[in-house]
Amino acid sequence: MHSHTEQNTIDHKTQLKIERLEYLLNFSENLVLIEDINSLLDQLLYDARSECMAEAGSIYLLEDGALRFSYVQNDLLARTKYDNRQYLYADHTVAIDEKSIAGYTASTGETLNIKDVYNIPATESYCFNPIFDQETGYRTRSIISAPLRKEGGELIGVIQLINPSDKLSFSEDDKNYIYHIGRIASSAIQRAQAGNATFMRMLKMAELRDPKETGAHVNRVGAYSIEIYDAWAKNRGIEEQEIRAFKEPLHIAAMLHDIGKVAISDLILKKPAKLTDEEFDIMRGHTSSGASLFNDSDIKLDRMSYETTLYHHECWNGTGYPHQLKGEEIPLHARIVAVADVYDALISVRAYKDSWSEDKVLSYMQEQSGKHFDPELIDIFISIQEIIRGIRHRYRET
Ligand code: C2E
Ligand code: SIN
Ligand code: SIN
Ligand code: FE
Ligand code: FE
Repeated sequence: MHSHTEQNTIDHKTQLKIERLEYLLNFSENLVLIEDINSLLDQLLYDARSECMAEAGSIYLLEDGALRFSYVQNDLLARTKYDNRQYLYADHTVAIDEKSIAGYTASTGETLNIKDVYNIPATESYCFNPIFDQETGYRTRSIISAPLRKEGGELIGVIQLINPSDKLSFSEDDKNYIYHIGRIASSAIQRAQAGNATFMRMLKMAELRDPKETGAHVNRVGAYSIEIYDAWAKNRGIEEQEIRAFKEPLHIAAMLHDIGKVAISDLILKKPAKLTDEEFDIMRGHTSSGASLFNDSDIKLDRMSYETTLYHHECWNGTGYPHQLKGEEIPLHARIVAVADVYDALISVRAYKDSWSEDKVLSYMQEQSGKHFDPELIDIFISIQEIIRGIRHRYRET
């Protein structure tokens, strides 16, 4: 185990930066911000990259004894035809041994500052895996790789920054900064994992009630929704900061969209055939039952969950339920979840239907553009199919 002497060499300026970040993560006025792990990783990586002027970065989290590639940001690729967001859902794990850069960081606890990954001295046990570069045409040069550990030292993952944009390789200051960020971030990730528990229990309850409405389905609708929003917002030139603030609650609200189904009787909920008109009337009640869980709250996440549960079956042309809202009267998040939900319902097997082919689903969605769905969102949805498939694969039924 290496000692972390870098702790002693931190300069005043770096110390101030660290304190600022610590303050940000601990006293964020909107605690919702740190309830969502993905959002937390997104914010963390963004801050770390801004501070060190890093073009790219990624986070691996410990899962089943290996490192799962859990988050990536890459500004350069984001501007090319290789939209790196599909890598966000890449099913990619790294063993915890001394052969890879991330694995070495995890197994030794050492923070590495590598000047050029293509010229690592042969005396080192680790080498660089060029597969990402080969697939994308990106050229990785310099990497900082730091462990994410809990208070007691227990490993939870690895954070990496790639290619400083203002110099050839990262400085020792950058390395120290990332080392400290790793310590602070680990406790925030821990808190986020705990904060998730309540909402995870709500979803688990729905799954116990109806095992067909699986966690995988809920995860897919959540992930499709944030990706649709992300593409929509970028098209419209919405500020990064606003995009991140919206995505966080949207992810959770989208996952909760059908929570009101817990109030529907088994006879209807699990009927392996078409519903009668009367039964469908009752089924429509899952929108307002769900919304009643989030009534009377000023919290942004609750408001968004309220509107998403209530309005996710409204149609762009005003023929949906329960209130026949029309066009932009329907909140954006509910319009987004409508696209994500119907897509997933059609492409999956349900108690009452077989799965449809991707072609059939996509032509149906396009045919319903301007009828059931916001046409702008359908265009966006069609344009991000590569990412959508990645999500389907990442959260496939097991
Ligand atoms: P869900 O299974 O999550 O389906 C969500 C939405 O996907 C549906 O909302 C509908 O807009 C679309 N969808 C699903 N299957 C089909 C299909 O075969 N053809 C077409 N054109 N669209 C489809 P909807 O219709 O408001 O239904 C809401 C919920 O009611 C459904 O959620 C499901 O839980 C239940 N449901 C709807 N129809 C039936 C049925 O015939 N039998 C049973 N057992 N449940 C049904
Ligand atoms: C997760 O983000 O991994 C869990 C779901 C959520 O908090 O949105
Ligand atoms: C929003 O609803 O938040 C943005 C405006 C729109 O609906 O297009
Ligand atoms: Fe629904
Ligand atoms: Fe649904």
